[in-house]
Amino acid sequence: MSVHEAVSSAKTSSPALVRVAVVGAGYWGVNHVRTFARLAGCELTLVCDPDAKNLKRAAGLAPSARLCSDYAQVLADPSIDAVVLATPAVLHAEQTILALRAGKHVLCEKPLALSVQDAKAVKAVAEQSGRVMMCGHLMLYHAAVLRLREMIQSGDIGEVYYLYGLRVNLGKLRHDENAMWSLAPHDVSIILYLLGQVPVSVAARGHAYLQPGVEDVVFLNLIFGDGKMAQIQVSWLDPRKERRLTVVGERRMVEFDDSHPTEKLRIYDKGFHRPPEFTQFGEFLTVRNGDIHIPHLDLPEPLNVECRHFIECIQKGQAPRSGAKEGLDVIRVLGAADKSLRNQGAPVLIEDEP
Ligand SMILES: NC(=O)c1ccc[n+]([C@@H]2O[C@H](COP(=O)([O-])OP(=O)(O)OC[C@H]3O[C@@H](n4cnc5c(N)ncnc54)[C@H](O)[C@@H]3O)[C@@H](O)[C@H]2O)c1
Repeated sequence: MSVHEAVSSAKTSSPALVRVAVVGAGYWGVNHVRTFARLAGCELTLVCDPDAKNLKRAAGLAPSARLCSDYAQVLADPSIDAVVLATPAVLHAEQTILALRAGKHVLCEKPLALSVQDAKAVKAVAEQSGRVMMCGHLMLYHAAVLRLREMIQSGDIGEVYYLYGLRVNLGKLRHDENAMWSLAPHDVSIILYLLGQVPVSVAARGHAYLQPGVEDVVFLNLIFGDGKMAQIQVSWLDPRKERRLTVVGERRMVEFDDSHPTEKLRIYDKGFHRPPEFTQFGEFLTVRNGDIHIPHLDLPEPLNVECRHFIECIQKGQAPRSGAKEGLDVIRVLGAADKSLRNQGAPVLIEDEP
């Protein structure tokens, strides 16, 4: 059964009001608590976290939700329709599979898993479950990314030549995943979504300065079958917070700066002009230095859009924009990058997914 068929067959049993449990109410999970507590169409019924301090903070944001410290209680609770996992990444695959097998819909924070094998297992269980399985690829719910995709698909920026992303800041340091697994899922998910394809090979180099074996900075290079190229730099050991992605196209170049509060996209009408006829070699390619346009974008909070999408997919029996397949694709890239990282940056081929 395909994901879509499975999800569609669950349509009839989808409840009108989706009762949600948020599992993991730490640094990021508390945002899910805040969002689901206010979201229409759902009821934040339960918050689960073994950390009493985090539970207490969550209770302040969602006073009507019950609290528990044991995930088994969430799984066994028949009043819970959907589970939102914002737990440490090492737990994601196993907790997702357990929730799907318990008949719950799942929204799992990125990364879906820390290995291709685990991500494939999640996808297989998701396809059989008839439940919505969505990955928290937040950036696919960002208005600027959607606009950028429209520009690419409509041919507005011409053929995409290459892209590069920068996602650096000081902290948040993790010990159970390196900076690549923590930060690069965002850029990889954006790039795959924009280009509509998975790279054929990846090379990655990085270094662990602060904790043995946990890279603080990683440079990834992605090569696509049609010659497109993408570079991603991630680090939690950097003086400046930068969240940038640049797309260089044949007709236009676009900069997405997520650190800027309002001017998220900058569209450069720049490139090289290739005149049909020329008399001197210097006229063969001439620089075109046009205007810079900053479009107005309505900017709803991406997490709110993501959570709403999850609830709507459950209620309407639709497959999510960032489902198990998209989650697996990101892990295929990161899994290959991880192999490259352990092999002095040698390029690693990404196997085709049947
Ligand atoms: N989408 C985004 O922009 C974004 C941003 C930050 C973090 N994240 C992701 O969210 C996840 C959590 O990150 P974080 O920064 O909040 O980490 P965190 O360590 O602050 O929080 C994790 C929470 O999970 C709880 N937990 C641990 N084991 C548990 C269990 N078995 N059952 C229930 N709760 C358990 C911990 O007590 C803690 O409160 C990570 O996967 C991270 O990559 C996503």
